[in-house]
Amino acid sequence: MSIITVMATFTTGCYYDKEELLYPNSAVDCSTVSATYAKVQSILTNKCNNCHSARNAAGGVVLETYDQVKAHAGRINQRAIVEKTMPPTAALATEEIAILKCWISSGTPNN
Ligand code: HEC
Repeated sequence: MSIITVMATFTTGCYYDKEELLYPNSAVDCSTVSATYAKVQSILTNKCNNCHSARNAAGGVVLETYDQVKAHAGRINQRAIVEKTMPPTAALATEEIAILKCWISSGTPNN
């Protein structure tokens, strides 16, 4: 009886872990998020440019201009939103993730 309970608990846990990986922040309603490039760049300046500046270029990635950020939008989405492995020390705040996610999903406008 208790073994079944334990197995059920693990099965449920795995299911929700995968759901979060496949559909991260699926509850974000982008119609309520003001996701401009200006806001995106200020998040990157505060949270990413320590490492991703022309001077440091961690992993060969510089995120200082609109063209650079746009060119890396897919990998930014993967690392900062889906995997949450960027920044390496602590994931972005929920509001920051929402802004990045909505900016990327609206086609990376330069606004
Ligand atoms: C403390 C330094 C540091 C900070 C802060 C940081 N990164 Fe990185 N980043 C790295 C290093 C080192 C690599 C190369 C190793 C790797 O890929 O894990 C990297 C690689 C990357 C890559 C390219 C790798 C790939 O998977 O394509 C992207 C995109 C990236 N970071 C995005 C970001 C974003 C977005 C932020 C801010 C939200 C950020 N990083 C903050 C150090 C940092």
